Amino acid sequence: MAEKLLNIDSSLTPLLLAWYDENARTLPWRADRDPYRVWVSEMMLQQTGVAVVNLYYPRFLEAFPTVAALAEADEDTVLKLWEGLGYYSRARNMHQAAKRLVSESGGVFPDTTEGLLKLPGIGTYTAGAIASICFNSPEPAVDGNVVRVISRLDALSDPDPAALKKRIAQGLRPYYDTKRCGDFTQALMELGALICVPNGVPACSLCPVGALCKAYRDKTVHLFPKRAQKPVKKTLTLTVFVFTCDGQTALCRRDNRGLLGGLWELPNVPEALGDSAAVEQAASWGVKPSSLLRSMRASHVFTHIRWDMTAYYIDCREKSAFFTWAHDSAMASFYPLPTAFKKFLTHP
Ligand code: ADE
Repeated sequence: MAEKLLNIDSSLTPLLLAWYDENARTLPWRADRDPYRVWVSEMMLQQTGVAVVNLYYPRFLEAFPTVAALAEADEDTVLKLWEGLGYYSRARNMHQAAKRLVSESGGVFPDTTEGLLKLPGIGTYTAGAIASICFNSPEPAVDGNVVRVISRLDALSDPDPAALKKRIAQGLRPYYDTKRCGDFTQALMELGALICVPNGVPACSLCPVGALCKAYRDKTVHLFPKRAQKPVKKTLTLTVFVFTCDGQTALCRRDNRGLLGGLWELPNVPEALGDSAAVEQAASWGVKPSSLLRSMRASHVFTHIRWDMTAYYIDCREKSAFFTWAHDSAMASFYPLPTAFKKFLTHP
């Protein structure tokens, strides 16, 4: 017999589903089980919380109501609607996956995890979410919420977070012995979002499965999941240039690879430049400053790195052909610009 990976009573499934029936939030992506809509929501929910996704999701679906509409869009339009969510490779992968779905299967999603996993950007979490929610397959989708809920219920820890996640995913399979696989996936997440919360005090007295919870019984809820030591982030110092001319701002496109690959950016160099070195750098791009207006500092923290930036605001006598020049309206509606750079454009 296969090793039992979780020691949680099997009443977990009916208790949690009964609670979900009473307490599930009404969220736009729960209105139906269309794989395209669920896919979009799950990709966004890997980036940020429900409150922010509630803003991005309707805009994205209005622009691209179907897989075919997403496949036909140009990449900048897709990235613009993703602007501010971060991890832009996810949006780019979605665009590629939509193209593949349209050309290979008339826009129809595969209904198995094996098929889903072949699409760009779909990993075990997303495949499990789509397979269980849309196709009622007994496939777990283990995000941070689910890790927290299960590690507390079973007082589980593992120094390797990936190993813990894998164990939980495999261990949950027998609990999917239900006709409501999608609801069970979402009920686990919902419990993590509403009751078994990450910060502050979990609402154990309201928990529908408190009686099954080993950490609650042992009064050790706060110890799970065990927090991994965060690696110290590297810091990169950048000098950024806000070149303006005739009401337009200079932009350039980032290299397709790496952090923020393919997005637009303000011209910048990866070093700290003083005033005169900044003017020299500008000259090397063919910029003829009419005035160096001022400078401003800002930082942006990514998952693995922190950027410390100083921006020089320079009004130019003419538009260097080195750059693409954009009006504010075009920056707002067309050019996808990462939040790190937008920080310098929100002030007069
Ligand atoms: N987080 C990730 N997927 C979710 C979903 N379907 N509902 C609520 N929160 C989620």
